[in-house]
Amino acid sequence: MSEPRQILVTSALPYANGSIHLGHMLEYIQTDMWVRFQKLRGNQCTYVCADDAHGSAIMLRAEKEGITPEQLIADVQAEHSSDFAEFLVDFDNFHSTHSDENRELSSMIYTRLRDAGHIANRSVTQYFDPEKGMFLADRFIKGTCPKCAAEDQYGDNCEKCGATYAPTELKNPKSAISGATPVLKDSKHFFFKLPDFQAMLQQWTRSGTLQDAVANKLAEWLDSGLQEWDISRDAPYFGFEIPDEPGKYFYVWLDAPIGYMASFKNLCARRPELDFDAYWKADSTTELYHFIGKDIVNFHALFWPAMLEGAGLRKPTAINVHGYLTVNGAKMSKSRGTFIKARTYLDHLAPEYLRYYYAAKLGRGVDDLDLNLEDFIQKVNSDLVGKVVNIASRCAGFIHKGNAGVMVGGDAAPELTEAFAAAAPSIAEAYEARDFARAMREIMALADRANAWIADKAPWSLAKQEGKQDEVQAICAQGVNLFRQLVIFLKPVLPVLAADAEAFLNVAPLRWDDHQSRLENHQLNAFKPLMSRIEPAKVEAMIAASKEDLLASQAPSAPAGNGELSKDPLAAEIEFDTFAAVDLRVALIVKAEAVPGADKLLQLTLDIGDERRNVFSGIKSAYPDPSLLEGRLTMMVANLKPRKMRFGISEGMVMAAGPGGEEIYLLSPDSGAKPGQRIK
Ligand code: 2FM
Ligand code: ZN
Repeated sequence: MSEPRQILVTSALPYANGSIHLGHMLEYIQTDMWVRFQKLRGNQCTYVCADDAHGSAIMLRAEKEGITPEQLIADVQAEHSSDFAEFLVDFDNFHSTHSDENRELSSMIYTRLRDAGHIANRSVTQYFDPEKGMFLADRFIKGTCPKCAAEDQYGDNCEKCGATYAPTELKNPKSAISGATPVLKDSKHFFFKLPDFQAMLQQWTRSGTLQDAVANKLAEWLDSGLQEWDISRDAPYFGFEIPDEPGKYFYVWLDAPIGYMASFKNLCARRPELDFDAYWKADSTTELYHFIGKDIVNFHALFWPAMLEGAGLRKPTAINVHGYLTVNGAKMSKSRGTFIKARTYLDHLAPEYLRYYYAAKLGRGVDDLDLNLEDFIQKVNSDLVGKVVNIASRCAGFIHKGNAGVMVGGDAAPELTEAFAAAAPSIAEAYEARDFARAMREIMALADRANAWIADKAPWSLAKQEGKQDEVQAICAQGVNLFRQLVIFLKPVLPVLAADAEAFLNVAPLRWDDHQSRLENHQLNAFKPLMSRIEPAKVEAMIAASKEDLLASQAPSAPAGNGELSKDPLAAEIEFDTFAAVDLRVALIVKAEAVPGADKLLQLTLDIGDERRNVFSGIKSAYPDPSLLEGRLTMMVANLKPRKMRFGISEGMVMAAGPGGEEIYLLSPDSGAKPGQRIK
């Protein structure tokens, strides 16, 4: 027997300001399956994660909700933890980057880098919000695109024409936080001297640590020369203050990966068998794997190994990169109900269905994975219910009825027992290589063989014949033994099915090597159905609920203007008088028509009781058949200054929610409201 390996595994740390969705789960589920496989094999494998709790987005969201960042983090951590647990993602520790361990380790790593000469500083000129008193990250600056003149674009790129630019190139810039016009201001920033590690990274990225596609992508950056990395942010910022630099904070991405170490350190304090230094010293013989999505490769495969090297610590053994999740062949979409939160899924479906489907489709590459919902139903029902569970349910009854639940009869199909055992190394190799799809294919091929053998022996026919009882018992005991082997192979993917099967089989928790043994003269427990089929109606209900999630989350969002929907996520506070000055009315849509020559506009004729108004509204993308709007009540701003547009004068504004495109939802009052009534 070889020595157990010592393996530390991480998944990317989710931001502490949003819910977990099925795209996130693709990563956590695959990491969990890999970790469970390692544990099943007897290795010392430790899986840590944490919430990524720092940064201005979290600070501003807490402020907007009127709570402290600490409270926000605690609330989100509780939500994340229960989502993960119910998806059977079994972290050894789920910590937070806003922790004492992370503060100490970040400080230690920074100080080592600084003392070794890898930190530079210089003055940087940036936009500053004079009202809010803070420097503005690019995404908190809005303005007019310098290339195509589209309004309301972010400070670094235009969603309309795709141009990228410096925030200073944006026309008419405004702070998305306060609405103030930002001013340029200088401040001292600290930089990590990444170019010091160019040679090391060139070698390290090509040393088997990365998939080829990832190494090739990185080579483009490496060949064009690395830049120094800005690791500081000015107060106010929610994070850790930089040692000896009051008012300067570590950029969230500096302390985020250190959060992996911090979570492990926090765990080591209660698990004496884990030696923190043994795992992190430069010449460690332990293994370290990070599972991440392809969008954050530069942080993990350039900055992070360089930081570790510069601080005299070990580098990762490998970075395992995966692609994005699509649903029904397209990007997850809120309006189609395919932006599915973990919680919404769990409200309707069992976690193991998704775990199996992801496993069946996950290879080693960085390709995107498509969750096709019809295929999902079909595959789970056919493979897990139709093939695997079916073996046990076909055989158990005969053993209980015919022999009081005791398995007897010897090895009725030695060739199958042998074939199943012989497949184990290849299945293990596929798991080890994260080629879950291959592992599942090989396991299902075995299940097919078992089912074919049982069908051929037809114990249900033999049971009706005189003198065939011994044969029936031997066939069914063999079926249960084959089922037991399949359960072992599937245990990393389906831990609940495995636990229920262990209860039925009346055995201690199965380990990988148990596939080499058989049960003989063994008492079974009562058989209970191990898995039920996915009902398509449940999937439909999940999609419908995801659409509702969207409406709920958008209820308080900004109103629709004459042209585009406002995208400002952080509206500034206004006085009550300002609000009271808005004349909001119930309006009846008398007529709704497309505007010839305008891609986005509908022309609406609105009845507000004592008068009719002509309003142009940029909602056409969501209402391709405008006539459907006729007769419907909505809400309008009646005292908006009339605006002359290319197609005529717009005399007000209707109210809608949503980010734009198909996702625009016109607001309506409850039935009973009358055109012209004021909204208070
Ligand atoms: O992209 C993200 O969601 C980040 N919160 C991931 C951080 S991973 C690690 F470096 F902490
Ligand atoms: Zn543009």
